[in-house]
Amino acid sequence: MLVLLTTPAFSQSAPQLGKAPVKDVVGAMTLQEKAQLVVGMGMQLPPSVPDSIRNRMKTSDAKKYSLPVAGAAGWTHPFPRLGIPSMVLSDGPAGVRIQPIRNQDSSQTYYATAFPVARLLASTWDPSVVQDVGKAYGEEAHEYGVDVALTPALNIHRNPLNGRNFEYYSEDPLIAGHMAAAMVEGIQSQGVGTSIKHFVANNQEANRNSVNTTVSERALREIYLKGFEIAVKNAHPWTVMSSYNRVNGTYTSQRHDLLTTVLRDEWGFKGFVMTDWTGGDDPIAQMNAGNDMLQPGNDNQINQIIDAVQSGKIDKETLDRNVTNILNIILKSPAFKGYDYSNNPDLHAHAKVARHAATQGMVLLKNDNALPLKKSTHIAAFGNTSYDIIIGGRGSGQVNQAYKVQLNQGLSDAGYNLDQYLKKDYKKYIKKAKANRPKSQGFFSPPEPIAEMPINTQRANEEATNNDVAVITLGRNSGEGADRAQSDFYLTGKEQSLIKAVADAFHAQGKKVVVVLNLAEPVDIASWRDDVDGILLAWQPGQEAGHAIADVLSGKVDPSGRLATTLPVDYSDVPSASHFPGTPANDPKQVIYKEGIYTGYRYYDTFDVKPAYEFGYGLSYTTFSFDNTKLSSSSFGGKLTVTTQVTNSGNTAGKEVVQLYLSAPSNGLDKPSQELKGFAKTKLLQPGASQTLSFELTPADLASFNPQTASWEAAAGTYTVRIGASSRDIRQSQTFKLDSKLTVEKDHDVLHPGSPINELKPKSGK
Ligand code: BGC
Repeated sequence: MLVLLTTPAFSQSAPQLGKAPVKDVVGAMTLQEKAQLVVGMGMQLPPSVPDSIRNRMKTSDAKKYSLPVAGAAGWTHPFPRLGIPSMVLSDGPAGVRIQPIRNQDSSQTYYATAFPVARLLASTWDPSVVQDVGKAYGEEAHEYGVDVALTPALNIHRNPLNGRNFEYYSEDPLIAGHMAAAMVEGIQSQGVGTSIKHFVANNQEANRNSVNTTVSERALREIYLKGFEIAVKNAHPWTVMSSYNRVNGTYTSQRHDLLTTVLRDEWGFKGFVMTDWTGGDDPIAQMNAGNDMLQPGNDNQINQIIDAVQSGKIDKETLDRNVTNILNIILKSPAFKGYDYSNNPDLHAHAKVARHAATQGMVLLKNDNALPLKKSTHIAAFGNTSYDIIIGGRGSGQVNQAYKVQLNQGLSDAGYNLDQYLKKDYKKYIKKAKANRPKSQGFFSPPEPIAEMPINTQRANEEATNNDVAVITLGRNSGEGADRAQSDFYLTGKEQSLIKAVADAFHAQGKKVVVVLNLAEPVDIASWRDDVDGILLAWQPGQEAGHAIADVLSGKVDPSGRLATTLPVDYSDVPSASHFPGTPANDPKQVIYKEGIYTGYRYYDTFDVKPAYEFGYGLSYTTFSFDNTKLSSSSFGGKLTVTTQVTNSGNTAGKEVVQLYLSAPSNGLDKPSQELKGFAKTKLLQPGASQTLSFELTPADLASFNPQTASWEAAAGTYTVRIGASSRDIRQSQTFKLDSKLTVEKDHDVLHPGSPINELKPKSGK
């Protein structure tokens, strides 16, 4: 393997990174070297990428150097004379994205573990699970020679059609922030850096490279920045990746107020900021804004930066600051430490982590005595994805894993009797359909999905006669480069016919029908849920998919996943539906976040729109009761502790997620009817067992951002603490008083939208 830390004899007189103070190293760098350090080395793209994209991105540097870790996304320039090695940057977020076979030599492979997608991980509501995934991910990155993992991604689920929602955690910034923090902690505990991305308000793929996101300061602060703030303050990521889009008129990578005032001055970020790949259009503005590194980088950017320093458009001090930020991170990197990576991570151990995590985030939506499946049940498994499972989304978030466990395999391994005749037909059908469809044009043009295999009444009746239960799997995929079409929210005619034929046949014989949803994005469920007996939302569960789904269907693992994003009844119910992806709709130049702070449950609850399944929802095979919710005081004196007791009131062991929502008095800024301010998952509780959980409320939890004063304020009055099993299943509540208005924090008056936005407001709002 190639470790680019070399210190040739001729360079001994120059100050060496790690030996001399960083400022001396910076002082010894030539302008050319500094400009190269702040610009990446170009990119080697996978062979599937069309030439049009390849030619645009490839630089002479990428050809010149033999870059280590094939398939990584970016590299930094090495300067052997100063003891500065090259760092390897690799995607993200479902696992290490590198090339599995190099130079057509399969005697040594570089497969990576495909973990469950972020959407599933957030549904665990358990940061410790996410941290364990992070540790395994970090170990893998370390052993494959990666210095910075380009993950986690924590943009907000603003609209269900965003093609990259699978990479993101939640519609709620508290969940997104804490999940991202857990991932950063896990990965960085292994000595590898992270890059939290995409900073910020990059919530669609349509025209992502240039669209202007127009959003109020309040929505930015409370919804879109909040998760990043939590991750930065709690977990100290080595790097931040600015996003492709503009915010309020300016590319994020070119906004000093975003990258310096907010990120560093207000939040205390100490690492370096890199662009998203080819993001922004002005290297000078990027350098000045505090976007320390441009990725993947090209010679033109290097030359522009050199010219700008010479002509005074970039101060020497500014470039030195950016160089210093980068060198401080290089000092921590495995490359700098000369880590002799093995290319042999413990994939076996990581597969177990992936399987466990997957079971923890699946959400049981419906169960009319259909699940868990009894031992040795005869199962008729319908649906293409029962035999062709989707383990993760597409694009830079795709992983090259060694294998994936199909659902049919998982069910057989769990001891179920699968209808072999059906299996054979599906396999044959899928093979033929794949052979006949047009080939993938690469990364950004995936192949068409295969239509569901038709099942007629006669076939459905035969299967019902020969089996005890039907499992129908429905799949959806999406990815980088495109949003989903609105029609993708609805089931196809073939999917609807499949459910109907199977449900009619099995129900006629008194047998149950279970649907497994193998997708990462909301689809219509309300229109067909009454036709089936059980629905498990398995998400895109990573390479151990079949085993993990079987673990939950069989009851080996109690389903303890809860929705971290609302599932709407209809697409038109989504608060951003009327103005996504912006105008003009076929080529959006601008998207206005007219719904303001009313994203997700904040909207559905405040405006009384009933979702199909609400935020926080999910069933177990057991039941839980909530008692003894107590506050440490009935008036707020700077801090308040909330305790509540959860008891397993059912017959099998399980875990519950306890959610704390807060409702504020109505005499201040307009507020959502309630907001999530705390959450915790119980340990595995045996029937009858209890656990007391405790939450702390701080002044910041009471406050909202007032753009008039650029400060976080909490109105005086009565607050209600609502403890529940979902946002609409509140089991206990208690109130406390805040005697007088609090100004919790004063921030900088930045990030204005230019002209005011006519934002959605509740009728009683001010
Ligand atoms: C994506 C990033 C990714 C980068 C490098 C970009 O297209 O938006 O998330 O890290 O490519 O692959």
